[in-house]
Amino acid sequence: MSLITLNLGKKLESALASGHPWVYRNHLPEHRLKTGDWVRLEAGKLSRIGLFDKEGAIAVRLFAETSVPDQTFIHERVKDALSLRTFVSNDTNAYRLIYGESDFLPGLVADRYNRFVVIRTYSKSLESILDDVVWSLSKELNLKGIAWRTERGLEALWGELPPPELTVMEKGLKFIANLYEGQKTGLFLDQRENRQTLRGLAKDKTVLNLFSYNGGFSVYALAGGAKEVTSVDIAPAANADAERNAEINGFINHKALTADVFSFLQDYARDANKVDMVVLDPPSMAKDKQSKFAALRAYKKLNTLALKCLNQGGLLVSSSCTSQVFPEDFKTMLAEACQDAKVQAQVIHEAGHALDHPVSIAFPEGRYLKFVVLRVLK
Ligand SMILES: C[S@@+](CC[C@H](N)C(=O)[O-])C[C@H]1O[C@@H](n2cnc3c(N)ncnc32)[C@H](O)[C@@H]1O
Repeated sequence: MSLITLNLGKKLESALASGHPWVYRNHLPEHRLKTGDWVRLEAGKLSRIGLFDKEGAIAVRLFAETSVPDQTFIHERVKDALSLRTFVSNDTNAYRLIYGESDFLPGLVADRYNRFVVIRTYSKSLESILDDVVWSLSKELNLKGIAWRTERGLEALWGELPPPELTVMEKGLKFIANLYEGQKTGLFLDQRENRQTLRGLAKDKTVLNLFSYNGGFSVYALAGGAKEVTSVDIAPAANADAERNAEINGFINHKALTADVFSFLQDYARDANKVDMVVLDPPSMAKDKQSKFAALRAYKKLNTLALKCLNQGGLLVSSSCTSQVFPEDFKTMLAEACQDAKVQAQVIHEAGHALDHPVSIAFPEGRYLKFVVLRVLK
C-alpha cells in the first residue's frame, strides 16, 4: 500500500525542522486520510511521517523521518525510553515508563505499577502502534500484565488485569493504587521527587496538605518526622485512601478531611489558625490559553490564604500542574500573593516533575509541573 504524501508548503519547513511532534489540522491540504493512517508530510526540503487523526486540533503526530514505523522502530523507541528509567531506585516500583511526546512516542503514556503497566492513549490513531508498544514492553520487562485505561475502563492488552487495589512502593513508602478508577493512571507519579524534598523539610512540623488526593505529600511528611498532618480533599474516596496510606505505613498522627479547599482555607485563615507547613497542589485550572488569567487569579487567592495560615518561618509548598502557566508566571503570582498577604518570603527550592517525566527540548508543552517551596517571614 502506498503512503499518502501531503505537501504543507515551504512555510512549514521550519516547523518540521524544529522537531515539534504536532501538525495542526488547519495546516493540512485536502486529503482522503482515515484515523490511524500513516502519512508523509512534506514542507520545503523536509519530510516527516506521522499518524493521522480526524478528531481534535492535532491532525498528525510525527514519529519518523524516512520510513513508516514498524515493530522494530517502536521497539527501539520503547527500549530507549526504558533505558532512561534505570535511575529509578530499588525502593520505588511505581514510575512512568513512556511519557508520550517527550519520549518520541507522541500521544501515548505508559506507567509502571510494580509488575503491571497501564497505558493511556490520547488519540484514536495511536491504536495503530498499540500492539507493537505492548509487545515491546512485554519483551523488555518482567511483567504480569499490561492494561489500557480508556473511558470504558481497564482492558487487558497482555497478561493479567491488575487487582482492584495494588500496593506499590515509592521511596520505601507504601501506597495503595487503584488503577481502575484512580486519577491519571492511578497515582500522581510526577510529584515523587517533590514529595521526597518535602520529607526532608517536615521534621517536627504541623502540616496542612491541601488537594491531598491519596495523601502522597502527607505520608512523606509523616515519614520525615512531621508532628501532625491534616489532608484535605473534596473527594471522600481520596481521603479514605489517604487515611489507609498513612495507616499502612504505621503513622497515627494524621487525619483526612473532606472539604472544598477554597472555603476551608478561607475559614482557616479567618479563624487565625496557623501551621508550620502548607502544601498546595490543586488540579489543573486552565484547559486553554484563554483561561490562563482566570487560573492565575485562582492560584493567587489560594496562595494568599495559605500564606496567612503559616507561622513565622513556615513553609509554603506550592504546585501548579496547569501547562499554560509557565514557571515565571507562577513565581510572579507567588510574589503578588506574598504582597497581598503582607509577608516576606524566600524561594528555598524550585523544581518541575520527576526524572521519569523528561521534557523533549522541541516540546516545551511537556513541562507542565511547577513546584516552589517558600520560607515565609512575617
Ligand atoms: C493534582 S491532585 C493532587 C495530587 C496529590 N498532591 C499527590 O501528590 O498525589 C488534585 C486533587 O485536588 C482535588 N480537588 C479538586 N478540586 C478540589 C477542591 N475544590 N477542594 C478540595 N480538593 C479538590 C482532587 O480530588 C484531587 O485529588
